[in-house]
Amino acid sequence: MAHAQLPVVQRGFGRTMRRDAWWVQPAIVVLILTSFIVYAQWAALQGDHYAFGNYLSPFYSPLLVGDPAFSWFGARPDWWPAWISPALIILPFPALFRLTCYYYRGAYYRSFWADPPSCTVGEPRQRYLGEHSFPLILQNLHRYFLYAALVFLVVLAHDVWRALWFADPAGGEHVGLGIGTIVLAMNVTLLSGYTLGCHSLRHIVGGHLDQLAGRPVRRAAYECASCLNRRHMYWAWTSLLGVAFADIYVRLCSMGVWTDWRLF
Ligand code: FES
Repeated sequence: MAHAQLPVVQRGFGRTMRRDAWWVQPAIVVLILTSFIVYAQWAALQGDHYAFGNYLSPFYSPLLVGDPAFSWFGARPDWWPAWISPALIILPFPALFRLTCYYYRGAYYRSFWADPPSCTVGEPRQRYLGEHSFPLILQNLHRYFLYAALVFLVVLAHDVWRALWFADPAGGEHVGLGIGTIVLAMNVTLLSGYTLGCHSLRHIVGGHLDQLAGRPVRRAAYECASCLNRRHMYWAWTSLLGVAFADIYVRLCSMGVWTDWRLF
């Protein structure tokens, strides 16, 4: 069989023969991720308006110290520095889970580092050490952050349960459904779609085995993770927007800007 030797062309940064708008997708990723990071930082530093009635913002859950209605360890002690909001203690776990996600890595390597900005578009570096070297080798910690993310899912699901119980004038509680309940339920649904479709989880539940025959539970878990994994990008973005919106909803209700409508 004849072989043709084709030269590899090294193009300068941003140079390409593509005629489509290849830069649109990376630009949108930069815009959304930057907006989310700025908002999440701001919301986490507020330390206020994170609860409304029986709703707790997902940015502050689990609430270790703070509003006694939700807090695991009571009110914030006097010695606690005012600038350390309860969200700052817990947010590093979900943040690092997302930062090390296989999908997000691809997205931000392209969009923020332009390495490369898109297929067949020139990149700014000639040398690439990859994820076998420091610091990117730390991305392998993703599988451990997954365990933390699974715990957060349980906590957030419990918050939805609490969001179903409304105080009544007699001092008791009764089951109800507010728009806030639906917002928090949607948030945990989207986060579950994202977390349970994680590549690492898929590997843990069955991907590392040579065969799944004769293991019905593992097989079901593997197929479920694979099904969600096929649309991992979709879950990644919708859950990101969903968690930000859940915080905005609780915050604006707490500030009196929005009214929480009750369906029953
Ligand atoms: Fe995306 Fe694990 S690979 S969450």
